[in-house]
Amino acid sequence: VSAALAQAVADGDTGYASQTRPVAEAFAGFADQRWGWTVDPAAVAPVADVAVGAIALLRILTRPGDAVVINPPIYPPFFEWVRTVGASLLEVPLTDGRLDLAEIEAAYAAGASVHVLCNPHNPVGRVHTPEELAALADLAARYDVRVVADEIHAPLVLPGATFTPFLTVPGGAEVGVSLVAASKAWNLAGLKCGLAVAASARMRAVVDALPADAHWHIGHFGALATEAAFRDGTGWLDDLLASLADRRDLLGSLIADRLPGVGWTPPAATYLAWLDCRGLGLDEDPAAAFLRAGVALESGLRFGRVGEGFVRINFGTSRDVLSEAVGRMASALR
Ligand SMILES: Cc1ncc(COP(=O)(O)O)c(C=O)c1O
Repeated sequence: VSAALAQAVADGDTGYASQTRPVAEAFAGFADQRWGWTVDPAAVAPVADVAVGAIALLRILTRPGDAVVINPPIYPPFFEWVRTVGASLLEVPLTDGRLDLAEIEAAYAAGASVHVLCNPHNPVGRVHTPEELAALADLAARYDVRVVADEIHAPLVLPGATFTPFLTVPGGAEVGVSLVAASKAWNLAGLKCGLAVAASARMRAVVDALPADAHWHIGHFGALATEAAFRDGTGWLDDLLASLADRRDLLGSLIADRLPGVGWTPPAATYLAWLDCRGLGLDEDPAAAFLRAGVALESGLRFGRVGEGFVRINFGTSRDVLSEAVGRMASALR
């Protein structure tokens, strides 16, 4: 990635992204190698980032007032994306950290037109199972719902867990569009390049309906970096995943030792953990109490009402910083 960017700067090649096909091909190669997912590069459309892609897809798939399903606790901008397009939110919270298919069916039956799915799920770090995703695809087909699958964290599935692309489960391609990027795994978010992927003629029509000039809106450096990451960055990614698994396990032992009142389920993916602080006896937002001890966590409240009493920690850091953070969190409780 660095070499690709440095070369472009040395060449003065700092204009618009000229070609986007190589990015799509690099992603197709990565998807095949990593997940055995055959992606047609012609059915991949670049978008400036996943947020821009999600909003653009929602504009195509909804009319003002339509209901859109999301599953709190959820990455906070999901709420905003739905509001931005004038749709209404139909919140179907996770149950014990999993998709609640019965409640999702009720929401679909109540007239939802789109479901914005998060897989792997930010903030709980869950990877939805093939069975859950197939059941979801079946419901979506029955109730005529389209699924926008935000799969931005897919490269960050940790050793021992398996990522299932939504478009690969039976029926998934007929109802879903996937949004992917190299931006989380390789820390390229500032360079601006995401990808919308379709895998059926029906959903290809949706991707093809994205604004025709959208490919001028991606960052040229984003495209170069994304291509390099997906094509040549898998060894680096594997090292990263080993480090993240180590930090997740360290976080588990630190919590057991220093914060025994905190509940959590070790995440299968991402560098994020969702900590249940409701048993700590803090009578305010736990993030505020931890901030006074010098640890900045995301308040659970940002992830929906069900996030009250929770915080989200980013464990993508050194062992020392992580130990220090948990030590300070413990001191905040004394
Ligand atoms: C689930 C999820 N979707 C989207 C984004 C934002 O991605 P982008 O910068 O491509 O809009 C993030 C960033 O953390 C995320 O966690």
